Amino acid sequence: MALIPIHLISLAILLHFVAAQQNNGFVAVQQNNGFVSIGASLAATPDAKPWLSSSGEFAFGFQQFQGKDSFLLSVWYEKIPNKTIIWYPKGGPIVSTGSKVDLVDRRGLVLSDPQGNEVWSFGNFSDFAYGYMNDTGNFAIVGSNSLNVWESFKDPVDTILPTQVIDIGVEINSKLSKTNFSDGRFQLRLIPDGNLVLNTRDLFTDTPDNAYYVSGTRDADNSSNSGFQLIFDVGGYMYVLRRNGKRVNLTEDSLPSGDFYHRATLDSDGVFTQYSHPKNPTEGTSWRVSWFMPEDICTKDSKACGLNSVCNLDNNRPNCECPPGFSLLDPNTTNAGCKPNLTLSCDEGNGGDVFDFIEITNTDWPGSDFVSLNPSGEQTCRTSCLKDCLCAVAIYGDNRCWKKQLPLANGYKDASNNVKAFLKFKKVDSPSGTGGSKSPTGEDKNGTGEDESRSLKFMRSDLIGTSVIGIFAFIGVIYMCFLQSHKKKAGTPLLSSTTVETNLPRFTYQELVKATDGFKDELGKGAFGTVYKGVIGTKIVAVKKLETVVQDGQKEFKTEVNTIARTHHKNLVQLLGYCDDGEKQLLIYEYMSNGTLAFYLFEDKRPSWNHRSSIAVGVAKGLTYLHEDCSNQIIHCDIKPQNILLDDYYNAKIADFGLAKLLMINQSKTNTGIRGTKGYVAPEWFRNTAVTTKVDVYSFGILLLEIISCRKSVVFNDDAEDAAVLTDMAWDCYQEGRLDAFVENDSEALNDLEKLTTFIMVGLWCVQENPLVRPTMKRVIQMLEGGIEVTEPPCPCPFSVTMC
Ligand SMILES: *[C@@H]1O[C@H](CO)[C@@H](O)[C@H](O)[C@H]1NC(C)=O
Ligand SMILES: *[C@@H]1O[C@H](CO)[C@@H](O)[C@H](O)[C@H]1NC(C)=O
Repeated sequence: MALIPIHLISLAILLHFVAAQQNNGFVAVQQNNGFVSIGASLAATPDAKPWLSSSGEFAFGFQQFQGKDSFLLSVWYEKIPNKTIIWYPKGGPIVSTGSKVDLVDRRGLVLSDPQGNEVWSFGNFSDFAYGYMNDTGNFAIVGSNSLNVWESFKDPVDTILPTQVIDIGVEINSKLSKTNFSDGRFQLRLIPDGNLVLNTRDLFTDTPDNAYYVSGTRDADNSSNSGFQLIFDVGGYMYVLRRNGKRVNLTEDSLPSGDFYHRATLDSDGVFTQYSHPKNPTEGTSWRVSWFMPEDICTKDSKACGLNSVCNLDNNRPNCECPPGFSLLDPNTTNAGCKPNLTLSCDEGNGGDVFDFIEITNTDWPGSDFVSLNPSGEQTCRTSCLKDCLCAVAIYGDNRCWKKQLPLANGYKDASNNVKAFLKFKKVDSPSGTGGSKSPTGEDKNGTGEDESRSLKFMRSDLIGTSVIGIFAFIGVIYMCFLQSHKKKAGTPLLSSTTVETNLPRFTYQELVKATDGFKDELGKGAFGTVYKGVIGTKIVAVKKLETVVQDGQKEFKTEVNTIARTHHKNLVQLLGYCDDGEKQLLIYEYMSNGTLAFYLFEDKRPSWNHRSSIAVGVAKGLTYLHEDCSNQIIHCDIKPQNILLDDYYNAKIADFGLAKLLMINQSKTNTGIRGTKGYVAPEWFRNTAVTTKVDVYSFGILLLEIISCRKSVVFNDDAEDAAVLTDMAWDCYQEGRLDAFVENDSEALNDLEKLTTFIMVGLWCVQENPLVRPTMKRVIQMLEGGIEVTEPPCPCPFSVTMC
């Protein structure tokens, strides 16, 4: 141990020496106090030193994308931890190692690839004297008369800075996404009539579309009053300057420029936002929002999400989702719109034999009406759309019915918009038939059957007994869940399960053999069966072959499958279909391309803190939905990283919910025990107390601590009695203020100390022995998101061992 400080000291001396060399030595040949001489060159390599402004606050050079052979020529803030990029060549050309940028006489900046091919440049100048990285963040090419012949401020991309002025005709263009610097769909422009506008652009022809924000600085009668410049002044105030000298302020209040950086960025989601960031990183390491526009980008004529999509305002940002039956047009971009999975055609007959509806609520597409029935009953509304081959969606609310055709435009979701949307889908996907259409309202009529009446006995002693276990098989626990997991919410209508029919496509076993190419490609094994990759139509799916067949339980199977199918949430893996061929029962889920959270956390290289924390919040949201939002309360009973899957964008989605109940129907006699008293299993399983949603809160707490620390809660090792107990460790580290030890010196997490502390405290609250003390999942989200203060948690484990 004593060696470490010595090493650190010598490393520090070495670094200091190197830094001194670079400040006073060879770099100065090319660049001094922000000046860059003609002939200077910068290479795209991970350790290349950028051209700095004289204060060292702004840098011009190549930024490398994390761990990749991709570099972006850019200007960024050098002195803050996340070196936010503020300028790059329009279109964001990505180059590989060995590319370079030269300051060439009479030509200015020339970017070329390793083979010497020119990638980007900006024209010819009769002559110029030098390049200059100004302390304002502006990179300029200065002529011999000391006037700028080119400057990055006059060629802006998505960001503008104090002292920058935008004239009529200049376009600010959003990036495609947070990580893709290609041109996105959104623009900010000062247009000739004097208005500052935000608009989408037509991707095919690059023509501006209708505006979704207008400043109102136009002058209809004469031009003396119209806006003619957008000014971001040195104090961090932004305003539209009218021709008569009057200002129209956009920034109401700004923090002092001496202590804060300011920038305004047209974010890739279409929201134009002014941010501030303390110059001194000890006072904060993140950008704070000063103001943004438009106020609600998801309002009725919003184009924030593209066609066929639904915009849902989440923390003032648009959250874009494809409705059921649609998928992303561009799989890498969430806000570029959706395409229908099946095209409706007027040649295939119509009506209830061919089509049916999926119902969703609070959602509308005001831009796609072709008929409005007024007045209309709900049944009339459905019938009219069902029989009309041009009708893709019907919206019903307040005794009116709006029929919509594709593409669905301006989609938004708002809890206060009390309408039902019926989305038409084609039933031919389920050739074996589903036995007709569902109840017209699509209400929850699936009595889940009152399980307690099925005389199944649960032996608690089995639980604590033997320690024989398959990795995931907490069968006993799960059986208990079967008794508890689908509690009816008060007020939900109960009907006999015999009336149940499902909308969910049903497949024959043979179809699934074909879809999976004979169950060739195994994706993984879970508590309930093996999962295989398959293709249905053009869609990649995951097919779960259930090991435990629900015999004599066809009805229950259908009932449960139906309940699961109606559970829609972006943090839950969606059930797409099922097969119930006698002995063979299979479930078809959406395919999650990025595997399990277990792999991502523990096997891969450690994911970033930001990403880990957003995964934690995603899981919390999915669980809250299961516990509180859907018509049947579902207790998952088996929350652990193996059951959290990651989609194309690494969003967390909970898998296997609802199965606990479904598959325990025949399992009463299984003699299985639990192993690992401190796994993910809440202590009340071992006691004679009621099992409630709080068991999931406990498991979530363990999962949260795992996500924070990238450590496994329990190491399944037959010899070690109780390997490392994560809760004890978390508590000790928290108590002793050694969060660095808990996160193994993850500097990104430690830089975000407030959030890190909050997360650990929430984790400790969730793993309290007494279920009553644990928060609900809803409260967990509020705490994680900073909505409510987290109080000091008590010790979760009375007999703790120091591990820090
Ligand atoms: C740097 O920017 C400031 C503010 O725009 C300007 O006054 C100054 O002349 C610039 N410096 C050089 C060397 O171009
Ligand atoms: C950015 O998106 C565009 C359009 O989808 C794609 O062609 C390009 O390859 C992407 N660039 C990167 C670096 O991912």
